[in-house]
Amino acid sequence: MVPADIAPQIISGGLRSRVIGRSLEVMAETGSTNDAIMAAGRAGRPEGFAVLADRQTAGRGRRGHSWASPAGLGLYTSILLRPHQPVARVPLLTLVAGLGVAHGIEEIAGVVVRLKWPNDVLVESRKVAGILAEMTTTDEKVSHVALGIGINVNHGPRDLPEALFPAATSLSIVTGKTFRRGEVAAAVFSALDRWYQVFRDGCVETLLAAGRERSATLGRLVEVLADGERWQGVAEDLDTDGALLIRLESGELRRVIASDASIRTPRETVSPQQ
Ligand code: BTN
Repeated sequence: MVPADIAPQIISGGLRSRVIGRSLEVMAETGSTNDAIMAAGRAGRPEGFAVLADRQTAGRGRRGHSWASPAGLGLYTSILLRPHQPVARVPLLTLVAGLGVAHGIEEIAGVVVRLKWPNDVLVESRKVAGILAEMTTTDEKVSHVALGIGINVNHGPRDLPEALFPAATSLSIVTGKTFRRGEVAAAVFSALDRWYQVFRDGCVETLLAAGRERSATLGRLVEVLADGERWQGVAEDLDTDGALLIRLESGELRRVIASDASIRTPRETVSPQQ
């Protein structure tokens, strides 16, 4: 049974969007909401269709990590997008989602949210949410994208995977409040709808400017793990496709693509995955 706090009426009642979440399905349990959206994409569901689950049995994060998805605590949702844009623009959707999640969380919880490149959403320097964008292409064109969002909402410290605490946090931990997850979803979908419109209008500079302003990465010394190599540099800027530009000590400027790399700040002892 679907718990009352994620009932479809709660989500629809708070929704101020044109596309995102206008049609949706709420499930008690699924493997991964991203898989459910991929299937919905193949079945011809409309853009903006969203799936939420009370619990995921095979929730996943970037680079093969799992995403713990216990019932009743987190918001686990994925949204179907059909961007009529070149494949090279798709990585920007992670930034679009980050901005949507940041604005939605700020509205609902009154906390300051920052973005750690490429897909972490932070409150008080700790990870509160993660984003996983997965794309299907046909003839080198984007067919559809599953934009997956996992938010730690009502978790207490003991509900977060031990290896990740205190690198991770939840909305409840930072505010001392309990949230109706459907209201969090409505706020996030509404904000995401606005940022997705900016993306669809091709206003890349507007997205990048907002991403720079919220970045917890730019200006910092970062350690990059990519292709079995580990190296350091100062994160200098976001490129027009969402790649991270890193200045090495030698003066060389390197581009890092999200799908190839993970980064951490050298003082971090745990690389937060959740
Ligand atoms: C990460 O931080 O590595 C990304 C985590 C993304 C988790 C969400 S939960 C909803 C959707 N379904 C999944 O299996 N993953 C994403």
